Amino acid sequence: MDKKAIVTGGSRGIGAAIVETLVREGFDVAFSYNVQKTMAEAMIERLSQQGGRLAAFQADLRQFAQAAAFINQAKEFLTGVDLLVNNAGITRDRSLFIMGEQDWRDVIDTNLNGYFNTTRNIIGYFYKNKRGCIINIASVSGLNGIAGQTSYCASKAGIIGFTRALAKESARLGIPVNCVAPGYVDTEMTRAIPEKHIHDIIAMIPMKRMGTVQEVADLVAFLASDKARYITGQVFSIDGGLTS
Ligand SMILES: NC(=O)c1ccc[n+]([C@@H]2O[C@H](COP(=O)([O-])OP(=O)(O)OC[C@H]3O[C@@H](n4cnc5c(N)ncnc54)[C@H](O)[C@@H]3O)[C@@H](O)[C@H]2O)c1
Repeated sequence: MDKKAIVTGGSRGIGAAIVETLVREGFDVAFSYNVQKTMAEAMIERLSQQGGRLAAFQADLRQFAQAAAFINQAKEFLTGVDLLVNNAGITRDRSLFIMGEQDWRDVIDTNLNGYFNTTRNIIGYFYKNKRGCIINIASVSGLNGIAGQTSYCASKAGIIGFTRALAKESARLGIPVNCVAPGYVDTEMTRAIPEKHIHDIIAMIPMKRMGTVQEVADLVAFLASDKARYITGQVFSIDGGLTS
């Protein structure tokens, strides 16, 4: 592989760790941010000083046209692309009986339709080159039902189905498509969970701690490497034993 990667939602959290790790592994990286321009710029400055070649582009990936524009800008900057990591995602957790229609739509539009929007705009390019790799960040919430997360669970289960089907469509061209399904990872997303729930969550995790963004990024880096070329259509949980 030439080592040119696109990462969505790369300005913070798991996405930022993925960008940083891929740069360390020798990838040129183009990543998207939605509203965190200052964070994206700071990351570029810091990683460029360490010798990385990277750029960030603003895109609301709920919009197909913005996803298309982002993929084109990224491809142009990288002069090609071998890897797409779909990572951008949100939660709007609440019980279904009080869930607003807009919250439901925002989660499905970002987490599921957003992954379609980016992937649809790159897959033909991968097929034409007979080269590429797709890694979708799902969640253990796509494997287990979690109360208060109907929208999030539906979106992440959707990503898993999407991944498995696309893996079958892409396998004959040697293009792997896999999911990484993190459990609870310490990021802004989980920092929004009330303190008393965090205590209960950690008690539930066999390893008795949350995962780190680096642990997730290291798994992504392995799946993006040549060592993982024969792995496709799989879901890799990284959750301290939560789904064991
Ligand atoms: N933190 C966890 O415990 C955990 C667990 C399982 C899965 N995940 C998944 O990992 C991924 C990253 O989550 P995180 O914890 O780093 O969260 P985060 O909130 O720190 O980061 C989410 C990223 O998505 C981007 N984003 C959100 N809406 C967007 C939109 N409409 N268009 C473009 N970008 C948008 C944000 O700008 C941000 O960069 C998500 O898909 C999330 O569902 C997280």
